[in-house]
Amino acid sequence: MPLVPAFIESLRPYEAGRTVESVRRQYGLSHIAKLASNENPLGASPQAIEALTRTLGGLNFYPNGGLDLREVLAAEYDVKVENVIAGSGSEGIMSNIIRAFLGDEDEVLTTEAAFIGFQVLARSRGVTYRTVPYRDWHYDLPALAEAINPNTKIVYLANPNNPTGTIFTRQQFDDFYKHVPERVLIILDEAYFEYAKDDPRYPDSMHYRYDNVITLRTFSKIYGLAGVRIGYGFAHEELIRNLLKVKLPFEPSTPAQAAGIGALADREFLHRSLELNARGLRCLSEGIAGMGLQVVPSHANFVMVVLSSEQEADRTFEELLARGVIVRPLKAFGLPRCLRVSTGTDEDTRLCLEAFRKLEH
Ligand SMILES: Cc1ncc(COP(=O)(O)O)c(C=O)c1O
Repeated sequence: MPLVPAFIESLRPYEAGRTVESVRRQYGLSHIAKLASNENPLGASPQAIEALTRTLGGLNFYPNGGLDLREVLAAEYDVKVENVIAGSGSEGIMSNIIRAFLGDEDEVLTTEAAFIGFQVLARSRGVTYRTVPYRDWHYDLPALAEAINPNTKIVYLANPNNPTGTIFTRQQFDDFYKHVPERVLIILDEAYFEYAKDDPRYPDSMHYRYDNVITLRTFSKIYGLAGVRIGYGFAHEELIRNLLKVKLPFEPSTPAQAAGIGALADREFLHRSLELNARGLRCLSEGIAGMGLQVVPSHANFVMVVLSSEQEADRTFEELLARGVIVRPLKAFGLPRCLRVSTGTDEDTRLCLEAFRKLEH
């Protein structure tokens, strides 16, 4: 089809994971553990739901472009509103970053098998996309620094990383940053920030605001609002000012913005979610590793399991599915022998470990 550029033709559309309903129907099971998308198993923050519900009477009015949420975030983080952007999920903001800052000759640099959402967005821009291999399932920051060339425009770093769950430390980031020219924009994707923030080695990027760093965060994970599409970012006001030029004027939606504001105030939900996640991570990691499988130690709300081959990963995925446990195959990310398992409720964890135990070896 001559109308479609080759770099679009060669992409594969994002495939959402299996739904609970379709697995229930296929296997006739009563309880399904959906552990495929790093969602919050407790549902959404109650204060977010309440705030969202209050907006329903005003759906006939256009949104204000995220201004209310930006003001709340600016006050919360002690920055100017000009340093804050809100969007339709952090992916919405990522998409705007790619549109605003990448020229045709620019290059993107990141790790191998980076978060698939970023891969899809960057590749769809048709620019050169370069990667550096993981080192023991961590970003190899020294190798990334080495790989920066005169065309590198964006370096994408997720911390904690999806799909490995690993973090890079404050010291590692400081060493890396010394080698990054000012003309290179670093995207620090902190979608899983809340799960890692209490680790003293974790570099909370709000503590050092460099002019060429944009921090992205989301309400999709710990706040349980993935279905609403609301995320935010912090950066130098010149970067934000230009992002605001390319973003859809009315994103985020009014209910999404209100849900975000409600969620930020919901400390109790955050606390409960963190507790459940810590328990789930521990049980899943120890339980699966105890069966002789390789589990990568995680700082997020999921663990990555490394199988011996792609066939073994496919077989494990299918066998878990047949027992009502939906996990995430990582072939599309670029890791065909790995699976990602999100934390769930205590009942989900029990079901998941039981299904792993019954795998045919
Ligand atoms: C590293 C990372 N960044 C961003 C996102 C997307 O977040 P949002 O739902 O805010 O677009 C995810 C979701 O899985 C993620 O893992």
